[in-house]
Amino acid sequence: MSSLQPWTPETWRHKPIRQQPQYPDRARLAHVERDLAGLPPLVAASETRVLKTELAQVALGKAFLLQGGDCAESFAEFSEDNLRSYFRVMLQMTMALMYGAGCPVVKVGRIAGQFAKPRSEDTETHDGIELPSYRGDMVNAMDFTPEARVPAPERLLKVYQQSAITLNFLRSLARGGYASLRQISQWNDEFIRTSAQGKRFQELADSINSALSFIAACGVPLDEVRQFSEAKFYTSHEALLLGYEQALTRFDDNEQRWYDCSAHMLWIGDRTRDAGEAHVEFLRGIANPIACKVGPSTSRDGLLALIDLLNPENEPGKLTLIARMGAAKIGEKLSPLVRAVKESGKTVVWACDPMHGNTIKAPGGYKTRRFTDILSEVRQFFAIHKAEGSYAGGVHFEMTGQDVTECLGGAQAISEINLSDRYHTHCDPRLNANQALELAFLIAEMLKGNKGEAQGLGWKG
Ligand code: PEP
Ligand code: CO
Repeated sequence: MSSLQPWTPETWRHKPIRQQPQYPDRARLAHVERDLAGLPPLVAASETRVLKTELAQVALGKAFLLQGGDCAESFAEFSEDNLRSYFRVMLQMTMALMYGAGCPVVKVGRIAGQFAKPRSEDTETHDGIELPSYRGDMVNAMDFTPEARVPAPERLLKVYQQSAITLNFLRSLARGGYASLRQISQWNDEFIRTSAQGKRFQELADSINSALSFIAACGVPLDEVRQFSEAKFYTSHEALLLGYEQALTRFDDNEQRWYDCSAHMLWIGDRTRDAGEAHVEFLRGIANPIACKVGPSTSRDGLLALIDLLNPENEPGKLTLIARMGAAKIGEKLSPLVRAVKESGKTVVWACDPMHGNTIKAPGGYKTRRFTDILSEVRQFFAIHKAEGSYAGGVHFEMTGQDVTECLGGAQAISEINLSDRYHTHCDPRLNANQALELAFLIAEMLKGNKGEAQGLGWKG
């Protein structure tokens, strides 16, 4: 048995740590972290507990998880329009998935805290000049100048403020009628009528509309029943800068446990999931639902040991494993892991991130992803779970509500020459609103289990 030391919110400080900025002014950093520790939490422990019970339903195969948002939030792209269009697409995707899966969809945003990025290189060189890499707006700025790239602790406070405003606005949208089923079905009708990719899904949208009409015909006042007029929405981000996470970690008197109140759910990235290191140490001690990315280098035994550390009581809903293998590798890599988890009797949510294993460089240097690779990884993820008798519990996307041109393909047929038109991401390429919706509708069809083959997706139901 392992001999784990007692956990406190700062035991991670004694472990090796990766992917951290080198702050020139450590005293200033400590000062900012103390300030943050004195500010109100961003989310309540009680909300986080509800999310865990909802994820427990996913773990038991009775609900489905949709997690999505920017690769990296930014200060520059923070606006009412962007938040509104993002939330709208999440709701539209939810409706399609809810219909396809025939069960509730738990909505978790990559938002209100998703500002710090792990990087493959510590530095970046252009024309013989070497500077520290951009690590997200939480750390430094993207401009390629020595001043911009200096890690600045004040940015943590700005992230806290932007996250608070974001949460406030999303809460108002979720409760104020913007998220009513009637409203969402109107948006979906518009997508079907006006976009190239929408036309294929007329039948599915008609079925959703008939279901709503039937409920209304039964005398249920759709606008007055909370389940039809409001949405539950949760936040998540990668817990990369642990000083920020520690500062927002608070003791819950009711439960006598620590909650990281920077978001409802936190995850560990594929580059920082070493069992002996700081990120796993921090996340093992908080009571939030947590997730861990599972990339192609994950071993069977390593994964089982990690699950024991992160969810020692085998609590359903506590741990989500986000597989991100890549379309070319998932066939070989995922089955043994799914089988091992199932055989061990450990209860997890399995979700599919079909983005991070499928990043390529297009001519011109743009990082991009092909819609066909993304779809292929999702399709294989579902097929593998089906073959292993395991539940494919959710999907995890990098997406935006804006009409960007960052990923290739989809019915909109974005090509390599289009990438430069509206390439705005601060890190990885995101699905635009129509691509994200197209994907959600395709998955809804797969989940319905009948049409994929006829449409050439090779999906066997
Ligand atoms: C991400 O989700 O943006 C990310 C960096 O993912 P991963 O840790 O899976 O590479
Ligand atoms: Co990313």
